[in-house]
Amino acid sequence: MPAAAICRRAKPRGGYGLAVGLAVTFTFFQPYSMPESIYESLGGEQTLRALVDRFYDLMDSEPEAAGIRALHPEDLTESRNKLFWFLVGWSGGPPMYIERFGHPRLRARHLPFPIGESERDQWLWCMNRALAELITDNFARVQLAHNFAQLADFMRNKAG
Ligand code: HEM
Repeated sequence: MPAAAICRRAKPRGGYGLAVGLAVTFTFFQPYSMPESIYESLGGEQTLRALVDRFYDLMDSEPEAAGIRALHPEDLTESRNKLFWFLVGWSGGPPMYIERFGHPRLRARHLPFPIGESERDQWLWCMNRALAELITDNFARVQLAHNFAQLADFMRNKAG
């Protein structure tokens, strides 16, 4: 088939104006674009650092969390760093924890510590308070709370 005939066939029915109009609409309004990651909607590294600091401050000071505080080292600096690095990658940011320590294998790393319902609930008590205070984006906060609840429950390794 001659090239001219192919060109004539390839021309869209509504003419090029319609094609350009659709391209502009989809490029700038992105009706089907993916939602941004939780990492972006909650405010990235800065917010996560503040969240982790508040979480460990609560664990360090509130009697409700005394049980799990006793499982942690006296100096919480590394605990803060590790949870922060983990959460950055987990929420969709750069894989900071994996770069340093490899695959998180979180459940295996928690096996040396006895974690039952009480420990799970203390951990979530601190985290849910920190979330309520610091995460203003409703979607990100609800999503995070849901994911934390599931992960904390998965961390249980003893009855009760
Ligand atoms: C369910 C109750 C939990 C308890 C009682 C608990 C307790 C602990 C303890 C005692 C450590 C070791 C000390 C340290 O390195 O900071 C630890 C480490 C850690 N936890 Fe938890 N944890 C719980 C749940 C979670 C959850 C839900 C997450 C993630 C969202 C998490 C993330 C981490 C991380 C990233 C580390 C450092 C692991 C490593 O590289 O050694 N923990 N946790």
